Amino acid sequence: MMYSVPEISCEHCVNAITAELDQVPGVTSIDVDVDAKLVTVIGGESIAILRAIDEAGYDASRQRGAAAAEQQLDDGVVRVTKWTFPPGTETGPHVHAFDYVVVPVTDGELTIETDDTSAVAPITIGVSYQRGKGVAHNVANDGDTTVAFVEVELLDR
Ligand code: NI
Repeated sequence: MMYSVPEISCEHCVNAITAELDQVPGVTSIDVDVDAKLVTVIGGESIAILRAIDEAGYDASRQRGAAAAEQQLDDGVVRVTKWTFPPGTETGPHVHAFDYVVVPVTDGELTIETDDTSAVAPITIGVSYQRGKGVAHNVANDGDTTVAFVEVELLDR
């Protein structure tokens, strides 16, 4: 995962952040890019990594790429979109305008963020679930493997 740390400016920052991240369980690689103001970390949980950078005295935010959306069908009754999440990608915050069904086409874990919560939800290939219109969240893959599902929006109810 990459983290944007706008206040990084010097070798002191690199050392302070690296020292804190070294103590986070599961972290296997740390790269601090002073020019890009980006910290790239392999391993460890995002929440623990954000806390460690905060402990070092810096504000950090996750820097994810965009998940890929492939619309497969829209006949006015249903809209079918395949979402593919390579590691470190997200949908971006969105509000669902329709009831919808999610059909996972991979196993994996997704991070579901709302304004004030973050939770990791396992998905299982072929095990569908339904959610109602009005759901507001960001869906991300903070894991190490690509995760994908097909979303079926019910436009007619
Ligand atoms: Ni959603």
